[in-house]
Amino acid sequence: MDLSLLPLTVFLLLLATFAGACPASERAALLAFKASMYDDTMGIFSTWTGSNCCSNWYGISCDPTNGRVADITLRGEAEHPPVFLPSAQAGKPGFMSGTISPEICKINRLTTLVLADWKNISGSIPSCISELPILRIIDVVGNRIDGELPEGIGKLKTMTVLNVADNLIDGRIPKSLTELSSLMHLDLSNNRLTGIIPSNFGNLRMLSRALLGGNKLSGEIPKSIGSMYRLADLDISQNQITGEVPSSFGSMRVLSSLYLDCNHISGKLPSSLLKSRGLNILNLSRNAVQGTIPDVFGPHSYFTALDLSYNLFKGTVPKSISTAAYIGHLDLSNNHLCGQIPHGAPFNHLEASSFVGNDCLCGGPLTHKC
Ligand SMILES: *[C@@H]1O[C@H](CO)[C@@H](O)[C@H](O)[C@H]1NC(C)=O
Ligand SMILES: *[C@@H]1O[C@H](CO)[C@@H](O)[C@H](O)[C@H]1NC(C)=O
Repeated sequence: MDLSLLPLTVFLLLLATFAGACPASERAALLAFKASMYDDTMGIFSTWTGSNCCSNWYGISCDPTNGRVADITLRGEAEHPPVFLPSAQAGKPGFMSGTISPEICKINRLTTLVLADWKNISGSIPSCISELPILRIIDVVGNRIDGELPEGIGKLKTMTVLNVADNLIDGRIPKSLTELSSLMHLDLSNNRLTGIIPSNFGNLRMLSRALLGGNKLSGEIPKSIGSMYRLADLDISQNQITGEVPSSFGSMRVLSSLYLDCNHISGKLPSSLLKSRGLNILNLSRNAVQGTIPDVFGPHSYFTALDLSYNLFKGTVPKSISTAAYIGHLDLSNNHLCGQIPHGAPFNHLEASSFVGNDCLCGGPLTHKC
């Protein structure tokens, strides 16, 4: 036998060994998972038959090196809907009810659990999920999942994506969450979370998106966030956050969008934040920020949206705004600003609605002459 073919032979042998495989225990766990779901409008589970769960079970894939179940990926709004769908149903959003069976925790080499946009999957996220040693992705967005996030979730040291947005999850953000040392994308938006954002949130060194909007979170914005040098998008909007915007936010290296609208934020707006080179979107609308708007814009300023409406800003509209490279949407309405609106770009393409509801602003685009 040609020895150079040995690696290939071994590989083919492995494939042959695992091709008919699917550990019986994992197949049983998948069938228990299937049994706790119903109203499967897409008929996905009709493909979950036969002994080899690694072959042609829709949404299941296995690790070819060991034949173990690695991914469960079931999306209700799939870009590429299952081919077996009757044509009448293709393109319609999926709908599924049921609960997530804790039996899936027996699928010990699971890396991906996606049960996204099924609208009616309920019950809680099984707490045993924290014991899965190589789980990387949990995405259960767009369901009716309730209960609390598992207390031990921080054990998932390999987890990169945690998306539980648009559900009914309550309770606090588990303390252990800040131990997710590989986490890059966190989306807890639009749930019913209460309590504070953990003060050591900044420990999430790998995090690039943190979306916490639309909950009932209270307390202050943790200062530690200012040291997150990979964080590009932070959304804490529509909560009950108090205190000031940390001035350290102005030195975050890649922060590009910051949504803090609809909270109870007070204090002054740090000038370092408006000076920040990377910041493109700042929404501070509907808070209680006071003092003047720092006059620190310059040729490096590039805002697609800057919304400071419904706050307590006083003083004048900063003249330096006209030196900015670009200001798309600007909203300074409903504050206590006074004096003449500066001339030139971007002011000459803004509408009165950007300035209404102030104490004594005057000049175009407002009809009130100075
Ligand atoms: C949604 O799920 C709940 C709980 O399982 C169930 O009672 C209800 O009938 C489901 N709704 C629809 C429209 O199927
Ligand atoms: C800022 O937030 C407010 C309140 O949530 C919202 O109405 C407004 O559209 C947002 N502004 C921008 C520019 O997105």
